[in-house]
Amino acid sequence: MDEFVTIYEEVIKILKQLFGTRSDVFLITGSGSAGLEASIISLIEPGDKVIADDYYLRFLEVVGTKVILLERGRGEAITPSMIERILKKEHDVKAVAIAHNDTAQGITNPINEIGEIVKNYGALFIVDAVSSLGGIPIKFDEWHIDICSSGAQKALSAPPGLAPIAVSERAWEVITNRKTPIPSRYLNLLSYREAVEKHGRWHPTPFTTATSLVVALYASLKSIMSEGLDKVYERHAKAAIAVRESLKAAGLKLLVKDERYASNTVTAVIWPEGYSYEKFWHLLYDKYRVMIGNPPVQWLSWPIFRGSFRIGHMGRTARQDHIMYTISAIENALLEISYPIKTGIMTEVAEKILT
Ligand SMILES: Cc1ncc(COP(=O)(O)O)c(C=O)c1O
Repeated sequence: MDEFVTIYEEVIKILKQLFGTRSDVFLITGSGSAGLEASIISLIEPGDKVIADDYYLRFLEVVGTKVILLERGRGEAITPSMIERILKKEHDVKAVAIAHNDTAQGITNPINEIGEIVKNYGALFIVDAVSSLGGIPIKFDEWHIDICSSGAQKALSAPPGLAPIAVSERAWEVITNRKTPIPSRYLNLLSYREAVEKHGRWHPTPFTTATSLVVALYASLKSIMSEGLDKVYERHAKAAIAVRESLKAAGLKLLVKDERYASNTVTAVIWPEGYSYEKFWHLLYDKYRVMIGNPPVQWLSWPIFRGSFRIGHMGRTARQDHIMYTISAIENALLEISYPIKTGIMTEVAEKILT
């Protein structure tokens, strides 16, 4: 068999372990959004009723669905009771589409519990795992997920440009029984299945495969598997605790309201009023070469980011050296803008957790 196809098959095999599924997994060439769009455009038809978060909303609007938007306060997770309340009231909900890990707010939604409820009401469950796959456990089969997609560039630590996607048997049934044809050529999941079935041994994707990206993803996946999945998840959890605790030791407040839902791949923090965020951000970027989210310009254009900053700790960056350098840079920058903290308090706390 062609050497590349062997690598491709190995990548799919490992991704199945990461997704926690025996169902079909494909690689779409495109960023994370390509996976989200493929999920929606393949499964959802015009007029369908879908409960969704604000990110999926934009993809659903393209299709022309009736969207029930999950409105909640800033820093609040999507809870099972929130979903159940809507499912009880609304009839004929075809699907629930939400993020596993809300990257903008540093929140991990309890999709394990939500999946059970969605299944009990007979709806399909679509999950965005762009910033969780490879950093936070996912159990696609056990949690009754029907389509889950991710991106190579986040916790998988590979270059951007590939979107892994898992599709359940139930999702295939719905897709193959659509009333209208899938209005997409490139993001049509049926063509991905057909490619594997018809010529999987020499060309397992329907279009040109981004071979260099697949090889890069393979290197990342091999490194994840040689460390051991459980160890990788533990490393992320520990990095997240170190980040959260050191920030709290500095008197800063996390954006997430209930810390049980704090993300293990990204932490969002409320910026303390009365201190120059512009100065803080630029000290980190220009002097310490640390780029935290959200650059000041993002505060102006996206209300969701206003008044907060974010620290990513996913994949390769969820390691002691990265975390210690970042925390120490944040501590120095805070001292330099005259924010009142005791010198060394943040690094001391982080070090204790990480060693
Ligand atoms: C949760 C989540 N979903 C979707 C996306 C969009 O992914 P991409 O920019 O790779 O298309 C992102 C990107 O940051 C994300 O964090």
